[in-house]
Amino acid sequence: MSKKLYIKTYGCQMNVYDSARMAEVLAPLGYAPAESPEAADMVILNTCHIREKAAEKVFSELGRLRPLKEQRGTVLAVAGCVAQAEGAEIIRRAPFVDIVLGPQTYHRLPEMVARASRAGGHVLETDFPAEEKFDHLPETKAAPGVTAFLTIQEGCDKFCSFCVVPYTRGAEYSRPAEDVLREARRLVEGGARELTLLGQNVNAYHGIEGGLGALVRRLAEIEGLARIRYTTSHPRDVDEGLLAAHAEVPKLMPFLHLPVQSGSDRILEAMNRKHKADDYRRLVDRLRTARPDLALSSDFIVGFPGESDADFEATLRLIRDIGFAQAFSFKYSPRPGTPAAALEAQVPEAIKEERLAVLQRLLAEQQAQFNAATVGRTVEVLFEKEGRHPGQLAGRSPWLQAVHAPAPPDLLGRVVPVRIASAGRNSLAGVLA
Ligand code: 5AD
Ligand code: SF4
Repeated sequence: MSKKLYIKTYGCQMNVYDSARMAEVLAPLGYAPAESPEAADMVILNTCHIREKAAEKVFSELGRLRPLKEQRGTVLAVAGCVAQAEGAEIIRRAPFVDIVLGPQTYHRLPEMVARASRAGGHVLETDFPAEEKFDHLPETKAAPGVTAFLTIQEGCDKFCSFCVVPYTRGAEYSRPAEDVLREARRLVEGGARELTLLGQNVNAYHGIEGGLGALVRRLAEIEGLARIRYTTSHPRDVDEGLLAAHAEVPKLMPFLHLPVQSGSDRILEAMNRKHKADDYRRLVDRLRTARPDLALSSDFIVGFPGESDADFEATLRLIRDIGFAQAFSFKYSPRPGTPAAALEAQVPEAIKEERLAVLQRLLAEQQAQFNAATVGRTVEVLFEKEGRHPGQLAGRSPWLQAVHAPAPPDLLGRVVPVRIASAGRNSLAGVLA
């Protein structure tokens, strides 16, 4: 019997990847994708716990879904990091939910669905058998697009004092390189030209001797693969091997998301980042020596407990010193159970708002400058999909900028030189060179 499944995904690329895997483990049970929750027999919320009132959002979404449960018997499941962190609370506050499952247990979903329908009760699975997850999840079957994500690492041992990831995703676990390489080859055979390696702290990867740098070199040997990216990384885990890969592997794209969070040594220390602002400056120098056209992206948190005006100024200074092509910035949000949430000197909301606005203005200027600098130049674009207007294709530059140009459809999946004619805030327009 054909049944329909709707998955709503919140948060990071890791969740997007996990949602695809969940759809795949459920396919043999007859679940096909639904257009909307209303049309589905089962709805999964794949949740994110990293910031803001994540749990509250989940409860209000569950409130909206409840009538579906009551009227059509829709199976409701909550997956992801909120499920991991607040599983028991979800069952207490939303007893109509059938299944609550943490990120390490997705391979057991079919069994949980069966148990939920038999028992009529709840299934709560939030264990941490990390090694199992990758071993038991089927590999991607759907034809990949031109660009594909590939999870190589999960969890984190860094324990930044603001972050829930070490609690929700558990200890750092690297997938064996042979598994990664096998999946990569299959993705490329299926048509992928670019792979983005995913992990909460992907450069802590140790599934191969020589770490991420060595893995990148092995991946670069795959014929037909044009581009390699990885995200997200920690400054402390950029080793010589990775620097050398940036210098010597042309398929490794010259764009790096390397979160620094703050430019103040005092705050970096309180965040337990285990490096100083100048260490980051020096590291960026070395990366740029290895790959002179490297562009950088980062994450920033404003209003971490105890952050003074001077600390915030130090962050602005760091941003001016480095010059970012792009960045994400957030107001600090206390996450229950993390050390920083218990600190007394919480920064008032109004100050966080003000600092965020100043920081984002500076970052937007830098992004605009970075984009404007490509105007008149010819850049290599990997065309991924049709553009918004007929006769156009859209793709990305080596620096992850969105580019569109008039181009015939047979250039999809190809890397093509494009002369950039104009730069908007979020995309570049060009013509085939
Ligand atoms: N408050 C605000 N931002 C956070 N991040 C992680 N935890 C918090 C928090 N408690 C941000 C960090 C991280 C990104 C993924 O989310 O900048 O790099
Ligand atoms: Fe969280 Fe990243 Fe720090 Fe790990 S390195 S604790 S995932 S912010």
